[in-house]
Amino acid sequence: MEDLKKVAEIVKEKGQVVAFTGAGISVESGIPTFRGAQGLWERYDPDEYAHIRSFLRNPEKVWMMLREMAYLIFEAKPSPAHLALGELERMGFLRAVITQNVDGLHHEAGNKNVIEYHGNHRWLVCPSCHSKKPFTRESLNVFPYPRCERCERALKPDVVFFGESIPLDAMIRANEEAKNCKVMLIIGTSGVVYPAAEIPYISKAYGATIVEINLERTPFTNSITDYFFAGSASTYLPEIVKLLK
Ligand code: OAD
Repeated sequence: MEDLKKVAEIVKEKGQVVAFTGAGISVESGIPTFRGAQGLWERYDPDEYAHIRSFLRNPEKVWMMLREMAYLIFEAKPSPAHLALGELERMGFLRAVITQNVDGLHHEAGNKNVIEYHGNHRWLVCPSCHSKKPFTRESLNVFPYPRCERCERALKPDVVFFGESIPLDAMIRANEEAKNCKVMLIIGTSGVVYPAAEIPYISKAYGATIVEINLERTPFTNSITDYFFAGSASTYLPEIVKLLK
């Protein structure tokens, strides 16, 4: 509790907070993480299901996993942690959210400056001709998968698969925010997927205070984290907001 008060004081004094979020922030919204016992990669080998090569080779197989994820994402509502970040932005403390998540829940929680480092689930895109259309629930009724109206190829959600590059605009904006923030909140990420995991190290190098909230320790914890809170983001973030009010 003392440490939480200290963090609230730092946020109040310095402002310029940036949050870097991962799958852990959406667990209480009903979307599982990727790693760990309940994680998606326990049931689906990422090499077979999350690599762009696998998608191009066998879109029907990959769409089985995508469909399962999509149903969860369409149903999900922001968690108390998402809502707390929305509140922090409205209060003027939070300048950006850099997220590895594709579920759109930061937008839904009211955050305006959201950088979606791994793309998003709002669009379907053709890997061949790059045309796009909105990813709606109706798209899930098309079997075995929705196709591009121009070239008939399998559409994929506009999310970054392994083997694909990070959207350039997101990368540039994320690096800028990482350099300029005074406090970096690392929330619910295992910190093992690059280049995303570089972001908090950039902030540290530029002098930010690093605050981390996670159920477990990560590669950040012993290297750059100044304040570590072991537990759920939906417990700690609303507490920080309360202390700031
Ligand atoms: P992971 O599944 O790797 O890690 C989720 C983290 O959230 C773990 O460290 C958990 O301990 C933590 N966690 C779980 N519940 C939590 C809670 N209630 N509060 C706080 N922390 C909690 O997910 P990411 O780090 O987001 O990339 O994964 C990074 C990338 O790997 C994803 O964006 C995705 C995946 O492959 C692509 O698909 C390109």
